[in-house]
Amino acid sequence: MNIRVYQSAEQIAGAAASIYAAQLTRKPDSVFGFATGSTPIPTYQALIKLNQRGELDFSRCVTYNLDEYVGLATDHDQSYDYFMRKQLFDHINIKRENTHLPSGIASDLQAECARYDAAVDTAGGVDVMLLGVGLNGHIGFNEPSDAFVYGTNIVNLTESTIAANVRFFSSRDEVPRQALSMGIGQIMASRQIVFIAMGEAKATILKQAFQGPVMPQVPASILQFHPNAVILLDEGAASLL
Ligand code: F6R
Repeated sequence: MNIRVYQSAEQIAGAAASIYAAQLTRKPDSVFGFATGSTPIPTYQALIKLNQRGELDFSRCVTYNLDEYVGLATDHDQSYDYFMRKQLFDHINIKRENTHLPSGIASDLQAECARYDAAVDTAGGVDVMLLGVGLNGHIGFNEPSDAFVYGTNIVNLTESTIAANVRFFSSRDEVPRQALSMGIGQIMASRQIVFIAMGEAKATILKQAFQGPVMPQVPASILQFHPNAVILLDEGAASLL
């Protein structure tokens, strides 16, 4: 694994942005896998800056996000669709029709998972997948479990994830209990992974994930087997490695 440690979120964002710049130069119609949460925000801000300065062109690229909450419409201010528009898509020259998230309000969620997998495959798979990690080691919303799941699936969020998400909702009852998430297999099929973690709170799970055994109880541990994963950490997140 290619682990790099930086002193600030801005430096991490700069490093991630340079990977995107190189990728878009090589392949202007790249397929990007994007994540939500607090971790990617500085990277998205760096991408917006480069795009607005005319140094990065998203006009031909296509995106597939990792996950979406079940039950939240795209105009709900906590939906990941809304997040992506506000944090990135509304500020860059990407075509709205080229951006994709699974629909958490589809009438048949199982069929929606299959449709999403097929769409990613038809697009040629993901060139660069951006990942954060949950305190319990989840990537996307693939929670600790007894087996690695391949494709997009309906996930029951764990108590730890629900607790981590309460801050974004007005009450605990409003936090969705399920999400649709790209599977571990699909994440691993991405040609490159850019994994970012910041802050000491993530240090313990990163030690388990990167220096412990590969097992579905620590979903991020699978990244030890990815041939092209760049791990960008700040000093806090890297403190136990
Ligand atoms: C969100 C996602 C999650 C987050 C993780 C970390 O699309 O895939 O795995 O990356 O929960 O969240 P933050 O960045 O808020 O610590």
